[in-house]
Amino acid sequence: MNKGNPAVQAGTDVHQESGGRRKRVLVPLYSQSGQLTRVTEQILAPLRESGAFEIHVEPIRPARPHPFPWSILRFFDTFPETALMVPEALEPGTLSGSEPFDLVILPYQVWFLAPSRPVSSWLQLPEIRRLLAGKPVVTVVACRNMWLMAHDKLKALLTQAGARLLDHVALIDRGPMAATFITTPMWMFTGRRDGWFGLPAAGVSEADIQASRRFGLALRDALHADRERGPGPLLHGLAAVDANPRLLPSERAGTRSFFLWGRLIRCFGPPGALARQPLVLFYILFLATLILTVVPLSSLLQALLRPMLAARLRAHKAALDAPSGSGTERIALYES
Ligand SMILES: Cc1cc2nc3c(=O)[nH]c(=O)nc-3n(C[C@H](O)[C@H](O)[C@H](O)COP(=O)(O)O)c2cc1C
Repeated sequence: MNKGNPAVQAGTDVHQESGGRRKRVLVPLYSQSGQLTRVTEQILAPLRESGAFEIHVEPIRPARPHPFPWSILRFFDTFPETALMVPEALEPGTLSGSEPFDLVILPYQVWFLAPSRPVSSWLQLPEIRRLLAGKPVVTVVACRNMWLMAHDKLKALLTQAGARLLDHVALIDRGPMAATFITTPMWMFTGRRDGWFGLPAAGVSEADIQASRRFGLALRDALHADRERGPGPLLHGLAAVDANPRLLPSERAGTRSFFLWGRLIRCFGPPGALARQPLVLFYILFLATLILTVVPLSSLLQALLRPMLAARLRAHKAALDAPSGSGTERIALYES
């Protein structure tokens, strides 16, 4: 069962902007545990409170719902189509593609180093591509901590639709990397976030969820000043992103592996097909080996080469932090 996906709360507030236009904000939303919903609600709260905008939350509903918590096999059986961004069938939405939204806030979670399958499927709907053409978009990711490749893939989908990416907000689990390798799967497989072997609770911290309100405050001001019509960013100086370029080699290796194995597994049938389960099982073992070897080896190698890589990593980080950046100079303005 998918918990936490809110009912559509299409806003009804009407506000006459300077040009006499009503500002409308579209927020497509899918969340299993409710984490992404809570982050999104924090961001939307200032927009709702101002009474000045019409906010349309469009639930994304897979026709064949993904379970939560997951069984281990079903979880890994989802990776081929997710990594390759093969769209799945969705329940019909309420949008025709011609709605005049002023801003799209696009929250997403990462599944297998790609945007979650419901979100990537939604972005590939013809009416959504039509709707996104020329529209300013703010993306918000809440995941474990590996979102770099997923964001690249999401950007490619937005570019194909002709959307304008103004900002990117990234919220991650700040627990130690090794701990999150244990706590995130435990959360996914049981639905319980905390109490695992004395490790920190899985997921984005409550403090970070609450603090994401600052993005809503800044968006409210930006919309009032028509800044969404410009090139952006609207969320600079708010520590929207703090990318870790050291994860890039592992993410690239993981993505290559998902592509290769994903294509192979798909030869044995669609998700759930009995014939692909032995291969999925084998891949789980392969992936565990990969995680236990490539990730620490890559970290070790990078630690050894750190002095030589420093300039390159800095350049990588700046590119990955774009467009919103990791600066903090406006945080005091929007702390509440
Ligand atoms: C199938 C699956 C694969 C995931 N893969 C990743 C991943 O590659 N990188 C990552 O940082 N988080 C990953 N996560 C964690 C999610 O991004 C997300 O944080 C978590 O599922 C909670 O999101 P929710 O709001 O939908 O409940 C994965 C979760 C699921 C269910």
